[in-house]
Amino acid sequence: MDLRLAPSILSADFACLADEIATIASVADLVHIDVMDGHYVPNITIGPGVVKALRPVTDIAFDTHLMICDPRTYAPRFVDAGSDSVTFHPLVDDDPEGLIDDLHQRGALVGIAVKPGEELELFEHLLPEIDLLLVMTVEPGFGGQSFMPEVLPKVERAAALRSRHGYRYAIEVDGGIGPDTVGLAVAAGADTLVAGSAVFGHDDRVAAGRAILAAARSALARRQAS
Ligand code: DX5
Ligand code: ZN
Repeated sequence: MDLRLAPSILSADFACLADEIATIASVADLVHIDVMDGHYVPNITIGPGVVKALRPVTDIAFDTHLMICDPRTYAPRFVDAGSDSVTFHPLVDDDPEGLIDDLHQRGALVGIAVKPGEELELFEHLLPEIDLLLVMTVEPGFGGQSFMPEVLPKVERAAALRSRHGYRYAIEVDGGIGPDTVGLAVAAGADTLVAGSAVFGHDDRVAAGRAILAAARSALARRQAS
């Protein structure tokens, strides 16, 4: 799969999100939108109204990460607001297959997210159904945390299962990704790279994004050569 950079607007200036998205337009493949409800995680961020307001300001696909307790109610609202993909944490729902199917029928791509302490095997039955597997490389809730290398074997298992069974999901890593850590994630099999503070924490977001992509491409070239 092609490498894709997904800057997370969690680390952008919320006073001017449209302008912030414009600063990453030339380097972003996706805009990562972190939705937190104050229950699933101890932080509250963005609702569907913000997604709807931002939808006309860019053509870049919205990659929406729901860290919420009730995706069954709210995920469709994000699709209606203009999210291209919606990713939820499956343990909060008693019928994740049904929710995946519902969101597909509404025309969205669908992902599931796996926290650092959750084994991939818990979700193996969902893997044939999804477009995106988000492997969290920090505990969800906040930007700017340190990358957890102990999650890398899970990324490797996700890549091995995908190739063994011919699954279609992209493998997204989320949390603590920057030029110094992205190579480890790509070497393990990640292709979709969320970066919040490592992009929006710099004045020159394009240079920051390119530095992450350059490190990712080097790691991919090494992986393919080995
Ligand atoms: C954490 C979020 C991440 C976060 C990443 O709960 O899911 O998307 O914004 O931020 P950085 O890249 O700063 O770790
Ligand atoms: Zn996220």
